Amino acid sequence: MENEFVPGAKVGEMAPGDLKLVEARGQMVALANVDGQHYAFGDTCTHMECSLSDGNLEGDVVECPCHGSQFNVRTGAVEDGPAQQPVPVYAVRIQGQDILIGPKKAGPA
Ligand code: FES
Repeated sequence: MENEFVPGAKVGEMAPGDLKLVEARGQMVALANVDGQHYAFGDTCTHMECSLSDGNLEGDVVECPCHGSQFNVRTGAVEDGPAQQPVPVYAVRIQGQDILIGPKKAGPA
């Protein structure tokens, strides 16, 4: 089960620069469209748990709406604080019009 890909959103719902919150396997996951490439990462900011999909996407960096922490959506790495811990990132597969979310690639649970 853990290795399965589950539906997240439709390709047509995500324009370049868009963020979208979805639930996959009971996890809150943010999808990001970076110049037509889709990425999936943990939606919950590791600083004080704000929703990163409510923030801004600039290139491949998402900025938390609460206190401005920045995370790389490809790797989950912190680019700027106050957050110290990375967010998890998930594999993504496109199948027809579906953006599928796969297993965690990196980062905390
Ligand atoms: S909750 Fe995200 S920066 Fe504070």
